[in-house]
Amino acid sequence: MHTDVVILAAGQGSRMKSALPKVMHPIAGKPMLQHVIDTANKLENSKLHVVVGHGAEHVQKQLDTQAISVALQAQQLGTGHAVAQALPKCQKEGVVVILYGDVPLIQATTLQSLLQQAHQGHLGLLTVELQDPTGYGRIVRNDVRDVVAIIEHKDATEEQREICEVNTGIMAVPCELLNSWLPKLSSENAQGEYYLTDIIAMAAEEGVRISAIQPETEQEVQGVNNRQQLAELERWYQSQEAQRLMTAGVTLYDPARIDVRGKLTVGQDVVIDINCVFEGDVTLADGVTIGPHCVIRNTSIQTGSCIEAHSLIDGANIGVDAVIGPFARIRPGTELANSTKIGNFVEIKKAVIGQGSKVNHLSYIGDALIGENSNIGAGTITCNYDGVNKSQTEIGDGAFIGSNTALVAPVKVGHQATIAAGSTITKDTPDGQLAVARAQQKLVSHWKRPTKRQS
Ligand code: UD1
Ligand code: MG
Repeated sequence: MHTDVVILAAGQGSRMKSALPKVMHPIAGKPMLQHVIDTANKLENSKLHVVVGHGAEHVQKQLDTQAISVALQAQQLGTGHAVAQALPKCQKEGVVVILYGDVPLIQATTLQSLLQQAHQGHLGLLTVELQDPTGYGRIVRNDVRDVVAIIEHKDATEEQREICEVNTGIMAVPCELLNSWLPKLSSENAQGEYYLTDIIAMAAEEGVRISAIQPETEQEVQGVNNRQQLAELERWYQSQEAQRLMTAGVTLYDPARIDVRGKLTVGQDVVIDINCVFEGDVTLADGVTIGPHCVIRNTSIQTGSCIEAHSLIDGANIGVDAVIGPFARIRPGTELANSTKIGNFVEIKKAVIGQGSKVNHLSYIGDALIGENSNIGAGTITCNYDGVNKSQTEIGDGAFIGSNTALVAPVKVGHQATIAAGSTITKDTPDGQLAVARAQQKLVSHWKRPTKRQS
């Protein structure tokens, strides 16, 4: 059966005190709204609709590249009114799932349970028991525990406010029923809004079964209204990620000090020290160790490689048994073959470095192709940019580049070639030859050191 997912994202979120629309604030590096979209996309045979209002332009940018229909709610007249904006585009024979853009961590399995109810013609309602239900819509049940209404906190009596079962706002409803109920909503209530929640009483009156389902965890239905709640959900998300990694066979020196902002794929016996951040798509194969305070983004690291403390690795492919850092910066387009060594204060950009080659200290290697088993001495710089164009440096196998060499690209250094320390290399060096490109040393034999002037 067809499912239309309507995601409400028109609210202002004034308590965030932000120029950014609330639903665009990230959890684990991804806008809250996108979390909801990604989860909704897991539902089979579904079409997504997002209701935008406050910050519509900004939110729409996020949606532009996705197959999502956007409905504008120019004035925020309530959740019922918001759903009504998207309803004309929903399929009449289908089911409508209602989600909130500021409830980011809802799980697809929970939605599937709700959908099952709606597919049978029931109203699937997600509720949760809270210790402190203040502010939420209360679930009112009759003598036989059937749900008969939702009463908003502001409209509730003292007695109703004692109810701890609350509305999460998430529900699945057959589209035809929604179509018949929404036009009947009234705004005669404490907030002067068209409450979506009033459809519950209509369903009860018409004898439509209301199936209340509870999520596995409270955080799944936790909304974000302020930065404190944003931080709480972020920490919860990260603790879940840490659990997942440990279950997969990763040692985390401190599960409370790791942040995964994307997809981290791991082998066994990976060891991750404290305060590391993983962004985008990162793969760590068996036995990889990551030292403390590393940031690793969109990178794949093969078996047994070791990243030492304080390294930043972005957009790289790293082979087997490589050693990188401490304090290394690896930039996009870098390919490091097996058993390469990149040491401290070395920056590598868009370079391919062959097996067993070493760049151990204080160097910049950009737009370069380096063969196998070459040694790049301390302070070597590839001068890849003339102010206008980028050029390539090529170094063969078994080359030895002396310390403090400037390689002015485009330039080639052959196999087994040697560059004397302190050279500025502007011409190609053939295989096996030595290039010395520096001023010759002079000796002054009768040199006397200056003496201190008498005052
Ligand atoms: C709503 C529910 C309440 C529930 C609570 C759960 C109603 C009337 N009340 O209350 O029962 O316990 O959520 O968090 O539904 N929105 C729009 N357009 C509008 C109004 C809201 O898009 O005109 C969006 C908001 O951006 C937000 C969501 O709908 O994502 C919920 O709106 P909010 O104002 O937070 O509703 P609550 O009063 O919290
Ligand atoms: Mg709310």
